[in-house]
Amino acid sequence: MPEPAAEKLRVLLRRTAIQKRVKEVALQITKDYKGQRVHMIGVLKGACIFLSDLIREINLDTSIDFMAVGSYGKGRQSSGQVRVNKDLDTSIEGLNVILVEDILDTGLTLNYLRRVLEQRHPKSLRVAALLDKPSRRVQAVKGDYVGFTIPNEFVVGYGLDYAERFRNLKDVCILTLPPE
Ligand code: IMP
Ligand code: MG
Repeated sequence: MPEPAAEKLRVLLRRTAIQKRVKEVALQITKDYKGQRVHMIGVLKGACIFLSDLIREINLDTSIDFMAVGSYGKGRQSSGQVRVNKDLDTSIEGLNVILVEDILDTGLTLNYLRRVLEQRHPKSLRVAALLDKPSRRVQAVKGDYVGFTIPNEFVVGYGLDYAERFRNLKDVCILTLPPE
């Protein structure tokens, strides 16, 4: 029997480039919200690494909460359905909310989250996303703070997963799987 073909990882964004860009985004946020408090909402689990690096570079009064939503299943295809699996711990009424996402892909997740959060009357609502894959949009969405715009490839690392694996990679890598 021949060995099954292996999964392949190819670096797309190096850790040093990510670090540098995260600092730039944090500096922009620090300028934009000067003298104000920001409430950062991380979308679990993909955004946890980006959020933890980003928030440490932000020089403002901050607070953190998390939300978990489901759209992707075990594989690489989105089901197109979004639902809340874990809601926020506290109210966002009157707060400057920054929703922190790992990647903007079809836009379904962000569109859904925007609607849910706007109904709770934050003072303002902006979106920070590490990655943007605009070629895959089904619904029009835009990030206010975007780390990198990337081509239509499936990526893992720096929080992003394939079936819950690879979140710990320090670089963002393109994953290619052997044919099924
Ligand atoms: P959207 O609703 O299609 O915009 O998908 C957003 C979610 O899909 C992200 O928060 C990721 O969890 C997942 N996702 C989209 N593209 C990728 C990818 O290339 N690698 C890993 N996860 C992805
Ligand atoms: Mg995911």
